[in-house]
Amino acid sequence: MKKAAIFIMLTVFLIGCQQENYLAQQSDKRNAQQDYKEEPVTFVQENEEEEEKEEEQEEKQQEKEQENEQTNENTDDSLTVIDDSESVSLVVNKQRKLPDGFEPDDLEEANVPYHAAEGDPKRLLQKVAADALEGLFADAKEDGLELVAVSGYRSYDRQKQIYENNVATNGQQHADKFSAKPGTSEHQTGLAMDVASAALVAVLEQSFIETNEGQWLEDHAHEHGFIIRYPEGKEEITGYSYEPWHLRYVGKEIATEIYQAQITLEEYFGLYP
Ligand code: DAL
Ligand code: ZN
Repeated sequence: MKKAAIFIMLTVFLIGCQQENYLAQQSDKRNAQQDYKEEPVTFVQENEEEEEKEEEQEEKQQEKEQENEQTNENTDDSLTVIDDSESVSLVVNKQRKLPDGFEPDDLEEANVPYHAAEGDPKRLLQKVAADALEGLFADAKEDGLELVAVSGYRSYDRQKQIYENNVATNGQQHADKFSAKPGTSEHQTGLAMDVASAALVAVLEQSFIETNEGQWLEDHAHEHGFIIRYPEGKEEITGYSYEPWHLRYVGKEIATEIYQAQITLEEYFGLYP
């Protein structure tokens, strides 16, 4: 009897121990699963976040480097910085750039038809050029022609955008024939205006010369102090393709001499070897 009682007690004790052991094991398992779920996940998240940050930083760094390369390209230190940026007879071209930060101080709108919306800086010119443009447009109107002013003043940053867009869209070789690098555009001087015929509004193409307005401008622009700055056949000298739409104010005297001699601004000032 005694032996049977001791056996039963021992059995109960052993079962109790096993159960405790089992419960402890289960608890360890749960904890281990918990650890596995939380810690590694957190660790992975941290890793991903760090990697993303590093990638972002790398991208930013690359963007900066590209920007610097482009800016250096655009503001070539080998160019001559012009010292007469206040003069209407200044010459900016692929060899001669405006001083850093140049902005004309008397920009205003001319009283002429514009393609750009009111308030757009494209409508601006230096006062002397804006007044001359009004006279030119009035004469054209008298002759039954309708001109539209498309693009005048551009800031350095705007020219940079235009040039870089042109390079991205058409490649550098093409862009360099039609767009000036920032700091070398006549549009930044406030002395240049691109004009179109009202019928072909905002179409700045060489075919403009086939319109009555294009023909008329070629013959009469100088009477108001403007020249066709990038003439046909002078691409080697100006560095740009023929632009029958790009008028540059230089004053009546110089414009008339250039028109009569059929030369470029570079040739007029002996800047072409
Ligand atoms: N189209 C002329 C060359 C300019 O970009 O200033
Ligand atoms: Zn132009």
